[in-house]
Amino acid sequence: MALPETEQLTRMISGAALSRAICTIGELGVSDHIAAGVPQPVETLARLTGTHERSLYRLLRFTASYGIFREMDGRQFDQTPLSAALRSDAQGSFRPAAQMFHRMFPVWDGLDHSIRTGESGAIKVLGEPMFDYIGHNPELGPLFDAGMTAFHGHETAAMLDAYDFSGIKTLADIGGGNGTLLAAVLQRYPQLHGILFDLGHVVGRARAGLQALGLDQRCRVIEGNFFESLPSGADAYLMRHIIHDWTDEQSIKILSNCRKVIPANGRVLLVEFTVSAANQASLGKDADLMMMTFPGGMERTEQEYQSLFEQSGFKLSKVTTTKSAVSVVEGTPTGKEYS
Ligand SMILES: C[S@@+](CC[C@H](N)C(=O)[O-])C[C@H]1O[C@@H](n2cnc3c(N)ncnc32)[C@H](O)[C@@H]1O
Repeated sequence: MALPETEQLTRMISGAALSRAICTIGELGVSDHIAAGVPQPVETLARLTGTHERSLYRLLRFTASYGIFREMDGRQFDQTPLSAALRSDAQGSFRPAAQMFHRMFPVWDGLDHSIRTGESGAIKVLGEPMFDYIGHNPELGPLFDAGMTAFHGHETAAMLDAYDFSGIKTLADIGGGNGTLLAAVLQRYPQLHGILFDLGHVVGRARAGLQALGLDQRCRVIEGNFFESLPSGADAYLMRHIIHDWTDEQSIKILSNCRKVIPANGRVLLVEFTVSAANQASLGKDADLMMMTFPGGMERTEQEYQSLFEQSGFKLSKVTTTKSAVSVVEGTPTGKEYS
């Protein structure tokens, strides 16, 4: 093999080092100890994070080679935009995302199990489905919510700029997590009412967040399990990065439960990555492997969403692309009488 290929493969095979290094920086909170433009010597950072100085230096020297911190003379490190996003006080901080993956990283050991069996790797590694594991480990719940806000928060403005919610009276956010997405839609559309629906151990955080923003009068928070039922009373049902967590059979169950409560003139809005063409790198293809290994779901093509809709009493009515990697895949119920 020519040198460029061997070098490329070497870097790709050892690529986990970068992911682990970033998650370790998030776990240790290194970014919190550097103000942009005020470089800190590694001795100080080691003291403040309670770490081994020479090892910390090697970690930061490595991540600085990827633009996470800038190494300066005298083993000092300054902030870069990427390292600043790992500060706890950064807007939409990525620190909880890094901390969550620091905890959940071993699930990747289950990738080969997923490929061999089609089952989620989490079942093998954690001994239970991922969302059950999060529910059984209370410290993970807030990290998971905040991690989702980090990964997907920037999609909210792109969605709001691309898709017109003005005809909707009540929007239900199904699996709405900590409520930041629904809050942003309610703030953009002052006439709109909301329903936030999620598991019992999640809704308390959503309730507190909506209250803090003064939105609790316009938004009901409902606890439940979407495999059992969805709340009625909305004319639009938003599910952002929900269907991608589940197999086709499970997705059809969720959508069929939605079909039971949606009015004839209602719409379901799936906000998801759509998988790009062959050989094109995309966030959708990256996320797809993660969905396979972690919750046991998948990213889908437009045609695959159409098929899920058809098997649950909807038809695909529109796909709205956004400036971010997500599209709004809209479905409307078929065979429902207007009342
Ligand atoms: C990938 S997160 C997406 C969160 C949010 N929609 C967003 O875009 O940031 C999946 C959400 O589904 C919720 N969830 C998982 N299983 C559920 C169930 N059986 N019933 C209701 N919500 C569930 C999780 O608690 C979590 O908030």
